[in-house]
Amino acid sequence: MPFIEHLSDTELERLALEQVVPALQEYGFYYVDGLLGELAGGAVLDQVKDMHRSGVLQDGRLAGSVPAVHRSSIRGDKIAWVNGSERGCEAINFLLNLIDKLISFCSGRLGNKEIRERSQAMVACYPGNGAGYVKHVDNPNCDGRCITCIYYLNKNWNAKEHGGILRIFPEGKSYVADIKPLFDRLLFFWSDRRNPHEVQPSYTTRYAITVWYFDSEERAEAKRRFRDLTGTNKPRTKFSLFPQKMLLNYI
Ligand code: OGA
Ligand code: OGA
Ligand code: MN
Repeated sequence: MPFIEHLSDTELERLALEQVVPALQEYGFYYVDGLLGELAGGAVLDQVKDMHRSGVLQDGRLAGSVPAVHRSSIRGDKIAWVNGSERGCEAINFLLNLIDKLISFCSGRLGNKEIRERSQAMVACYPGNGAGYVKHVDNPNCDGRCITCIYYLNKNWNAKEHGGILRIFPEGKSYVADIKPLFDRLLFFWSDRRNPHEVQPSYTTRYAITVWYFDSEERAEAKRRFRDLTGTNKPRTKFSLFPQKMLLNYI
């Protein structure tokens, strides 16, 4: 079944220019509800559930010297990286194309940032055993990631009962932003130190898909540093260019 976009290019462009760009400039984060609609959003959810059922979601990684026993007290999610062209990821691919389009309408209007590429998509599940993710910054050390985009997939989410809130602590502000991981919601925020955030303990299965968009110059510089350090262009693992999230609550 081909997926039909319920937002036209013109509507996407308006969303980008009238809402996403100004909100990012002013607050550093923003979310859009009802991005795909019930049908296409539901298809993405089904594909993520299938991935979960089939066992491809694995413990999320921590860089550095965190003892394995502590891992789940820092981040308790199960993840898989996909590029969208895999079998069974057609709806996810449709979502990624839409987010790419939206971001490309923003690009060139985000100060001196130039966005031309992104990471693969991280499909994540917090299994509902009270696991969350302690306060951290996605890109504390200039690894190139500029915007974090998270698409949430959870129907009938009741935060009082299920927890799972994403709390952002905007740098230098006296407020926090609590964002519920609601079905068909797309969240954007600056990936750097402006937005420390945590995932509060989740008491039922919580699904999300995350992509990180790169600032071209910062990414190229990070790759050069990596090459100088290791003498190779080829990261040992796919993700070793994302060295370490800065964990803020963890001793
Ligand atoms: C990981 C991971 C992305 C990041 O490898 O599991 O979460 O933000 N990488 O560090
Ligand atoms: C992450 C993260 C937030 C969320 O994976 O780095 O902060 O709401 N996830 O799932
Ligand atoms: Mn994060």
